[in-house]
Amino acid sequence: MDLIRRVAKDLVEANYAIAFTGAGISTESGIPDFRGPSGIWTRDPEAEKRAYEIYGKFLRDPSEYWKEALRSPLYSLLEKAEPNPAHKALADLESMGILMCVITQNIDGLHQKAGSRNVVEFHGSVSKLRCIRCGSRFDKRKFIKVLESHNVPECENCGSALKLDVVHFTEPIPTDVYVKSFEEAMKCDLMLVCGTSAVVYPAAELPRVAKRNGAKIVEINLEETSLTFEGVSDYIIKGKVGENLPKIVEEVKKLRIQS
Ligand code: APR
Repeated sequence: MDLIRRVAKDLVEANYAIAFTGAGISTESGIPDFRGPSGIWTRDPEAEKRAYEIYGKFLRDPSEYWKEALRSPLYSLLEKAEPNPAHKALADLESMGILMCVITQNIDGLHQKAGSRNVVEFHGSVSKLRCIRCGSRFDKRKFIKVLESHNVPECENCGSALKLDVVHFTEPIPTDVYVKSFEEAMKCDLMLVCGTSAVVYPAAELPRVAKRNGAKIVEINLEETSLTFEGVSDYIIKGKVGENLPKIVEEVKKLRIQS
């Protein structure tokens, strides 16, 4: 049986299927990934080193942090991007009652734009601000005037300086998304792992926890990853998510008509 049909069958037979996605699901929306063949870190390893300094900069000097954040070309690119067929395919699987949740490492909000409703943003979101003191989150648009006047936005609940909801390297994962993601990983009996190299922890622990808990792990990725080499994934569908996920949805629809 070809792998598209195999994963469609696994999806239809699963009791609680979820998806875990990374930057590779958004490259077909024009957003570069990090470690793929033309990824941001692949092309400029120094940029990855600089990324490790961002959170410390916020803690030391929020106004300096905001000056850089507002200059970042990546953040403005993310806000203009549109979902691609891969995002839409996962939203279709959710509306068909096949997919229960999407845990994403991406900060671009494209799963929600595509119609997915149960989305956990493990690394936060570029369109929200978050208070690291009390955990409150706000829509970034509420603070546009403050940001345009080069002031530091302040939490409406505790007065602390707000940062982007984006989780930077060395920054703790917010407890709410951390707990929810591991709960979902423990609950699922099938995890579709789409477009991630699965090397950044603790996010990369999620497929491994699911595997240890007896779930079937199916990778949909351009290339093999550590999950493939470690035998965490049961099988990998190699190729573009934007091509393979819509084919999987079509196959699921066929299987449901037959059943
Ligand atoms: N279809 C399928 N796979 C793809 C596609 C595509 N169209 N485009 C890229 N890929 C694959 C790449 O080959 C790579 O294996 O997706 C994977 C993306 O891996 P990374 O670039 O490492 O992205 P990700 O795993 O999400 O990174 C995790 O690292 O920099 C941090 O916080 C950032 O959330 C990010 C985290």
